[in-house]
Amino acid sequence: MKDLAFYDGYSSEIDNMTIPFCDRAHFFGDGVYEVAMARNYTIYALDEHIERFYASADALKINIAYSKDELSSLICSLVRRLDSDEQSVYWQVTRRYGDEAREHTYSEGAQGKLWVMLRPSKIKDIYNPVKAITLPDTRWHHCNIKSINLIPAVMYAQKAKEQGAYEAILYRKGGRVTECSHSNVHIITSNGVFKTAPADNMILAGIARSHLISACRSLGIEVDESPFTIDEMMNAEEIILSSTSGMCMVCDSIDGKSVGGKNKAIADAIRHWVMTDFIEKTS
Ligand code: PDD
Repeated sequence: MKDLAFYDGYSSEIDNMTIPFCDRAHFFGDGVYEVAMARNYTIYALDEHIERFYASADALKINIAYSKDELSSLICSLVRRLDSDEQSVYWQVTRRYGDEAREHTYSEGAQGKLWVMLRPSKIKDIYNPVKAITLPDTRWHHCNIKSINLIPAVMYAQKAKEQGAYEAILYRKGGRVTECSHSNVHIITSNGVFKTAPADNMILAGIARSHLISACRSLGIEVDESPFTIDEMMNAEEIILSSTSGMCMVCDSIDGKSVGGKNKAIADAIRHWVMTDFIEKTS
């Protein structure tokens, strides 16, 4: 197949899939999701994505009809049905709807609806620096939950695109940098420390972020998981963005000003480590 959609036990090509009108994704965005990458039909860091998926679903009390092992096996079997061995692997669960269409409350215990979407895709070019803009972070205070409510992220990403930037870097009142519209952001300080926002409710703790931390630990680079400000970021040695499809991207321009570029050796070493890990684990 060229691509695949799966909904509540049914599968087809994406264009041929229809979703029940009352699915709570439509009225409430009442669901949580994951995105992973596959290469050689192997899903990179699948266990980490599965763990975060169940944690997000638990936080919203959405029940998943599968055990973690069953869900992993199901997704792996779907991945093998595509013609392309390099894929973006997306899945989500939405809370089961009841008899009443669009009722805010729900019955606890009902099993959610599983969606899977597979498309041919490769990881991004991570060797060319990218531009970013900054925007105030006006999202809710549960950013650790990977909710399908992505309207703020859509608005931020669009603003970045309109200004010719890859990402929008977000900050809260007081100037604390949180994350980006669809990536995490990290800095290398003048002491050569890898500084990344703490994994609290203000950010989504990215799987790529955890790989960057592993890279630093194995390369002997000190890691500091504490908040940093816009000022610290603008003066940092390097600024690094990370996400599942863009594992380690150096940012060289923020709001039109040149930034970073002062410790290319560290940025290169971290990027090399994560890229090698990806290639090895998907070979
Ligand atoms: N976005 N922060 C936000 C708000 C995100 O949406 C993402 C991922 C990340 C990075 O997480 P990870 O390293 O696990 O991909 C951080 C995905 C890719 C998306 O919505 O498409």
